[in-house]
Amino acid sequence: MQFLLCNGSPRGKTGNSERIIDGLAEGLNAHENILIEKVLLNRTNEHSEAAARLAGADCAIIVFPLYTDAMPGMVMAFFEELTPHIGSLSNLSLGFIVQSGFPEKIQSLAVEKYLERLTELLGARYSGTAIFGGGMGMRKKRMEIIRELGASFVPGLAFDPVLLERTTGFVRLSPVGSKVMGVVASTALLQTPWIRSLKANGAYGRRDARPYEPQPPHL
Ligand SMILES: Cc1cc2nc3c(=O)[nH]c(=O)nc-3n(C[C@H](O)[C@H](O)[C@H](O)COP(=O)(O)O)c2cc1C
Repeated sequence: MQFLLCNGSPRGKTGNSERIIDGLAEGLNAHENILIEKVLLNRTNEHSEAAARLAGADCAIIVFPLYTDAMPGMVMAFFEELTPHIGSLSNLSLGFIVQSGFPEKIQSLAVEKYLERLTELLGARYSGTAIFGGGMGMRKKRMEIIRELGASFVPGLAFDPVLLERTTGFVRLSPVGSKVMGVVASTALLQTPWIRSLKANGAYGRRDARPYEPQPPHL
């Protein structure tokens, strides 16, 4: 059985998505006759070839992070590259892993709905979406769940619903947890990397810009 594991992180091999893919592959390899191929979706000039490989696989799992509350644009570009294959994907099982830095599951629920609908539009079989909040801490327990997700994916070619419940502890932080998170997020530990990045891109002076805020009408 042929599997294609797609890494949808702009950071490619150096990011958390790659570690998730490695864990999945380890779990899948607990079975015999599994052939695993990997693709990096940050190689955008190879999307057409990757789409053809996906169309030829029995199963594909696409792993990507949330960047600024959204699916990375290069993942969207890859999905658009699948259009010519619509009509020939009925034997493909398609699953997704969405992972992010903030701990709440709620920010990934909209993209989860989209992924289910996308699979329907592509005419493939939906294997489910695993959501991992708090992805910056790739803890040992998390890696165990990822391996289990891979191992239990076969033979049903779908994520185990019981395991999906265990991937992220809660949908929303409690009011107290939310306040604590606000305080932690304002500390130098979390702010420094963002400030450095803003400065490196000459955008520090515009860090509070609100370009989409409605403006009062001109008189
Ligand atoms: C530019 C940027 C934007 C991000 N935006 C979000 C976000 O909106 N919500 C969130 O929970 N995490 C966000 N994160 C954290 C990433 O989702 C998280 O670190 C993830 O594990 C990165 O995966 P990767 O290493 O495979 O790219 C962001 C990270 C970066 C670098």
